[in-house]
Amino acid sequence: MSAFENRVSFVTGAGSGIGEAMALKLAGEGSTVVCSDINEQGAQATAARVEELGAKAVVSALDTANEEAVKEALTKTTRDLGRLDVLMNNAGVGGKNWETTTAINLDGVYYGLIHACPIMAGQGGGAIVNTASVAGLGALMRPFEYHDDPVTIEAASAYVASKHGVVGLTKQFAVAFGKVGVRVNAICPGYIKTPILAPMLEREGHEDFLKELHPMGRLGQPEEIAEVAAFLASDAASFVTGVAMPVDGGYAAR
Ligand SMILES: NC(=O)c1ccc[n+]([C@@H]2O[C@H](COP(=O)([O-])OP(=O)(O)OC[C@H]3O[C@@H](n4cnc5c(N)ncnc54)[C@H](O)[C@@H]3O)[C@@H](O)[C@H]2O)c1
Repeated sequence: MSAFENRVSFVTGAGSGIGEAMALKLAGEGSTVVCSDINEQGAQATAARVEELGAKAVVSALDTANEEAVKEALTKTTRDLGRLDVLMNNAGVGGKNWETTTAINLDGVYYGLIHACPIMAGQGGGAIVNTASVAGLGALMRPFEYHDDPVTIEAASAYVASKHGVVGLTKQFAVAFGKVGVRVNAICPGYIKTPILAPMLEREGHEDFLKELHPMGRLGQPEEIAEVAAFLASDAASFVTGVAMPVDGGYAAR
């Protein structure tokens, strides 16, 4: 039997990159997948690929920075599909100002946790994987000095603060819901080839700089993150909760 057979998974940011890879990985392991994204077209495209794998897909157009919408989407999923086994709390942005970054990357993750955990506890358990970052474990490195560049320092500090916050939320919810069967973990990707990186990779010499931040000497692929996230959400990780796991080609080991 596949790892996620008869399970219902909800993936935010499923319309692109890491979230898309997560949706496909879970579908390949037998899960019904709610493909959720603020970009409905992206969510629909991923849902179509989920169905090509023979799994059931549901599309959910959702802005994770809207608490009522998050609550309603998770409640509707549980009502319509009977359960909520996995939440990939993954939607996020980079390169944005303080308000936008923290509203999506931090508040949005909190809304997923605060509304999914009681549903999962009520049905006897579940697993949540928050997408943090190596920026949740330390500062971001840049190939240029940017202390006098207000746009870059705002975006970088908002990203780092929000992802450190995600690591903190992961620990707090793991502790709070440990006894009722809800496991909460985070993954901390290094730099992964997805559309979020496009503006950085366009800069001369930036790709080589980013590759060299990883002792393995390359960027990661979204499927390499989805594999580890699926492991953390599966019964194979039944005694793992509250961890922030780097998936980063050695970035955090330096
Ligand atoms: N790519 C990397 O190098 C990298 C590294 C570390 C962490 N991450 C994190 O991984 C997660 C996924 O990023 P990605 O690399 O796949 O980027 P991506 O841009 O390919 O995908 C992000 C998805 O999130 C969606 N999204 C944005 N705001 C949203 C909102 N308010 N509500 C719902 N959906 C929203 C976008 O429409 C998009 O489909 C993010 O949390 C990001 O911070 C990425």
